This record gives sequence, C-alpha cells and structure tokens, in this order.
Amino acid sequence: MGDRGAGGLSQARPTHLIKREKTLSTGPHRIVFANEKGGTGKSTTAVHVAIALACQGARVATIDLDSRQRTMHRYFENRAETMRRRDISLPSATFEVYSGDSIEELDAMTARLAEAHDFLIFDTPGRDDPLARHVATRADTLVTPLNDSFVDFDLIGQVDAETFKVRRLSFYAELIWEARKKRAMATIKDARREMDWVVVRNRTGFTEARNQKRIDTALTELSKRVGHIGRRIEPAEAES
Ligand SMILES: Nc1ncnc2c1ncn2[C@@H]1O[C@H](COP(=O)(O)OP(=O)(O)OP(=O)(O)O)[C@@H](O)[C@H]1O
Ligand SMILES: [Mg+2]
Repeated sequence: MGDRGAGGLSQARPTHLIKREKTLSTGPHRIVFANEKGGTGKSTTAVHVAIALACQGARVATIDLDSRQRTMHRYFENRAETMRRRDISLPSATFEVYSGDSIEELDAMTARLAEAHDFLIFDTPGRDDPLARHVATRADTLVTPLNDSFVDFDLIGQVDAETFKVRRLSFYAELIWEARKKRAMATIKDARREMDWVVVRNRTGFTEARNQKRIDTALTELSKRVGHIGRRIEPAEAES
C-alpha cells in the first residue's frame, strides 16, 4: 500500500521534529532492529517504535527484511485492515517488505522511501544475514532487544560463569564497534550522524530480580568497553 494508508497525521507534524531533521545532514533517521538471535522482540519493538513516532507526527516508513516471517509487515497490514473495517484513521506508517537478496536493490528501495519520510525503520531476521548486517552498520540508531538472560547476552559479550564479569566481546559487538568507529570518521568528514546503539532489555517482567541485577552489571561493564550503549528506547531522543 504505501503512503500512510492510515491517513491523518501528516498535517499534524510537530515543528520541532521537522526542524531537527533539517539541521542533521543526511536524510531520514534510520532505526535498525537487529539481533542475530531469534525471538528477542525485534519485530514487536520495531512496530511499537514506528507507531510511537507516527503518533508524534513523524512520517515513518518500515522495511521488513524478514521476508519469510513478515511479522512487522503483517502487523501493519492488520492495522490497515482494522482501519478499513471500522472506517477509522490511525497513525500508521508506509510499510514494505524487501524479499530480494541484492544490496543495491535494497539501497534503491531505501533511497526511494527516504525522499518522503523522516524515519526509516528496518526489521531484520533473527539470524546472521548479509542484508541485516548491511543495514545494521548503516544505522543511525541500532536497537538490539534481548531477554534478561545470559543466553541472549552471549551474542554481545561472554560472561564469566562465576563472577559474571564480561570476559570478552562477542563477534557481534566487535562488528558494531567497528561500524561505530567508521561512522565516527564519517561523522567528521561527511557530517553524518553518530551511530547510537541501544540495547533493550525486553520481557523483564518474567525474570527474577537477581538475574536482572547481573545483566545490568554486565551491560554497564560492556558499555565501558564498546563505548556508550543506550539501554532503553526513548523515541523522542532517537535522533540525537
Ligand atoms: N515485551 C514483551 N512481552 C510479552 N511478549 C513479548 C514481548 N516482546 C515480544 N513478545 C512476544 O515474543 C515473541 C517473539 O517476539 P518477536 O516476534 O517480536 O521477536 P523477534 O526478535 O522479531 O523474533 P524473530 O527473530 O523470529 O524475528 C512474540 O510472540 C511476541 O509477541
Ligand atoms: Mg521478527
């Protein structure tokens, strides 16, 4: 469908959003939800962030790179269907699936959507995937949801089983660290935004308090080693 099928909010964009985007150099803000582990809440969080931004009046486009599951896309289809059925208008987003395997084609789709949107939101599959890596390393804000479990934490850092200290960064954290270093250079050279990495602890309600504390300590330590890692989603600040 495209074009804010929900209709409605494009006229109501708050001016602070528009002004902020204009002072930043390179097109819409790209938020990428990625974690090579499956089932950590990427699609769920992506949908909530997209809708939250649309509710603030931002023009949001979503690109689902998980062309098999299409979870995020299905959510927006259902939302559009609800609007049709009830004849109501809700804040929504342009939603597309990319099901090819060419980086060039994906970049072309991204460039097309960039023209008329303030935010591009990418949902990626829960596995190592070349397209997911491509968009992750080009994110302005990379969001990695994880459950409060060391099984999930393992993806970003290895933790000593006795002391719970971070023994070493995992491959994924190294990948992001490298991407952030490259971006820091581009930030100076091409006036690009800095890349922000937000690790979201999802489903904390299901976890016992002791484990939560250990995860918290491990994340704080990891944050010192890879530069700042944001720890929650604050859409209103996602651009800074
Ligand atoms: N905060 C939450 N509270 C309760 N249930 C949740 C929460 N976040 C996600 N879920 C549920 O957990 C399941 C997995 O979530 P989701 O599909 O968003 O994960 P994912 O990381 O996108 O998975 P995949 O890697 O397979 O794409 C879904 O059934 C979803 O409804
Ligand atoms: Mg998913």
